[in-house]
Amino acid sequence: MTDNTRKVCFMTGASGRLGREIAVGLARKGFDMYFTWRSNRQAAEQTLDTIRTYSPASGMIECDISDTAQIRHAFRSFSERFDRLDLLVASASNFFATPLGSVTEEAWDSLVDTNLKGTFFTLQEAANLMSRQPFISRIITMTDISAGMIWKNFAPYTASKAAVQHLTRVFAKTYAPGILVNSIAPGTITINPQWNNAEELEEELTSRIPLKQLGGTEDIMGTVDFLVENNYITGQVINVDGGRTLT
Ligand SMILES: NC(=O)c1ccc[n+]([C@@H]2O[C@H](COP(=O)([O-])OP(=O)(O)OC[C@H]3O[C@@H](n4cnc5c(N)ncnc54)[C@H](OP(=O)(O)O)[C@@H]3O)[C@@H](O)[C@H]2O)c1
Repeated sequence: MTDNTRKVCFMTGASGRLGREIAVGLARKGFDMYFTWRSNRQAAEQTLDTIRTYSPASGMIECDISDTAQIRHAFRSFSERFDRLDLLVASASNFFATPLGSVTEEAWDSLVDTNLKGTFFTLQEAANLMSRQPFISRIITMTDISAGMIWKNFAPYTASKAAVQHLTRVFAKTYAPGILVNSIAPGTITINPQWNNAEELEEELTSRIPLKQLGGTEDIMGTVDFLVENNYITGQVINVDGGRTLT
């Protein structure tokens, strides 16, 4: 059993480009971390190695959040190991282009089953645990500014993120005052270096951002820190986008 005075965070998607920085940042801040990985075991193990330098009690579990049975199993394993849940960061997400007019059912299912269904059942499991605790806990969903934009090549992705912003408000109202539920909507923070037009894309996107630069992972971590410490914000979506949504 663990030291039950330390705060504990359950996180999905902690091996992602942004997710990893959030997980390590939270461990550095004093959280014990329990996180899920799906396909990239090596990235997850590297994340865990780094996290354990701050929090030896931290652990990880394989879990495809598009399968609700696996989510339930992950939370059961979590509860056998930890006896409190202070924070859920729901970051796991699929992202790929699906030009309107040729979206396949398979692509729709892959995006929506992970980003919307998986996030919903993750929040439900966490809220069921948190609502039995005699202290304030928090949920942060990771969405995207594109939830409010018209991106014709990404409709299933953007719709799933818009739906998660809605769920954020539903959970916030339902579980107040015990659980504070908010969403962080990043603009462009990382560009996948494997995309063959990565450099061009970075230039083009930067020109559309009023603050004239892509965001840094520290900008997202700063927002996570803010929400973890704040006691009077719930049901909000915080755009961290250099002003991109103003254009
Ligand atoms: N990075 C950005 O610039 C940016 C911009 C806007 C919004 N966001 C949002 O911020 C969050 C974090 O982004 P990121 O850069 O860390 O994303 P990322 O690099 O694409 O990583 C995605 C993460 O989600 C996990 N995942 C995907 N499908 C899953 C499934 N079915 N079950 C369980 N895990 C699954 C992946 O695990 P495996 O690798 O193990 O499969 C990985 O850890 C995401 O919600 C994203 O939509 C990011």
